[in-house]
Order: sequence, then structure tokens, then C-alpha cells
Amino acid sequence: MVIIASNFKTNHTRASTKEFISFVNEYLNNEKDVEVMVFPTATSLDNYKINSNLTIGAQNAYCVNSGSFTGEIGTQQLDEFGIKTILIGHSERRHILGESQEEIAKKYAFYKELGYKIVYCIGEPLEVKEQGLEATLEYIYEQFVGIDTTYADLVLAYEPVWAIGTGVTATNEDIKSVHSAIKSKINKPLLYGGSVKVDNVAQICSLDGVDGALIGTASWVKEDFVQILKNIKGL
Ligand code: PGA
Repeated sequence: MVIIASNFKTNHTRASTKEFISFVNEYLNNEKDVEVMVFPTATSLDNYKINSNLTIGAQNAYCVNSGSFTGEIGTQQLDEFGIKTILIGHSERRHILGESQEEIAKKYAFYKELGYKIVYCIGEPLEVKEQGLEATLEYIYEQFVGIDTTYADLVLAYEPVWAIGTGVTATNEDIKSVHSAIKSKINKPLLYGGSVKVDNVAQICSLDGVDGALIGTASWVKEDFVQILKNIKGL
């Protein structure tokens, strides 16, 4: 089954998130062939009424139940809304917020232990891509240090940093070569992310080794997101 995930990043309010979720839930009521995840901001997590293949996840949380970690949320806050899905290792957390591989691995182990579904992101910056496939894969494999890739509820997302939010999608060849290399080592669903759009989502999701897409910018308008879901119908 194709997996499509929407990463809201720092977008949408509580009100617009609610509208988005009920709009998507309604569409998915009659659409069983796709698994959809939406990652709203922490302030927009809530007890949404969902009766479809739609799961709400957290973009980030600290590896703690509760405590003194100013600005963070833990599982006490996630449990309030029954959140059991989390995004870990997103490039913006690695490169803008400065999360180290060690911190990411600690977070991964914590949420794995609690049985969360984990969407784990990997991807190389432009200067690494420019050194070729071997360097790219070497960089990506470093992002698996400390990560138990045999974990049952793991979904991977390959998101080249240079393609995220830039409008520059990786080429089919880039996607295929990285995906097949990762897939030869790790037998888990593998999403592609990085400037996936309404118009290219079907073509990307039909590539060998691509099990779905993690989408930022193009997913934030609810009608566009539902169009994305319509476009991958039947894959
Ligand atoms: P983008 O973001 O679709 O805006 O490139 C993807 C992501 O960061 O998950």
C-alpha cells in the first residue's frame, strides 16, 4: 500500500489543522488503498475524530515522559491525544536545530521501546551529492548509526537536503539508485521526500523501490493534498 505523509513543519493553526484533518478524513472514508500520515505542529495535536486510514503523528518530541526540558514535549503530552507516531531525524532538525546523530539515536531507541511507529529520515546535503553516489551512500549510512533498522514499526524516508523546500526534485535516476541501495540493506517501506508536488507524486511513487512520499510544501493546502491522494490512486 502506498504511504503518503504530510509534514506541516511550522505551518497551520489549530483551526486550520482541524479543517485539514476533517477534509482529508472525509476523502479517505471512501479510499482504503492508501495509508496517510499527517504531522501537524505540536500545538495542533488534539483528539481528532478520525475513522479512516489517517494517522496523526508528532513532528518531534523529547525522549522523556515529563520533566524539566523547556520548550519540549514528552509522551505525557502525546498520550493525551493518543499519538503513537513520530518523525525522527528530519533534516531540518539535524541541520537547523542541530540534533546530533547521538541524540537522534537516543530518541529513536526511546520511542521504539514504547512501540511508536517511527518515520525515520535520512538524506545528504548538496556538497555530498556532488561527490557522487558512493559518498552519498556513505553519508546516509552514517545516519543509521545507533538505529535499530530491524524495528517492526519503522518507515524510512529518503529526503535529500538539497531537494527539501527548494522546488528541485531529485531525478528518477537519483531516487532509484539511492532507494535500491538502501533497500538492499534494509527491508522497510521507504518514502521519498523533497519537493514532491501534485504533478510529480504519481510518477515518483511508481518508481521501483519507492513506497510513498513524505511531503512538505505541496501538502499544506487541503485541496492539493487530497489531489495528491487522488493522483496516486491505483498505484
Ligand atoms: P518539501 O519538504 O516537500 O517542502 O520539499 C519535504 C520534507 O521536508 O519532508
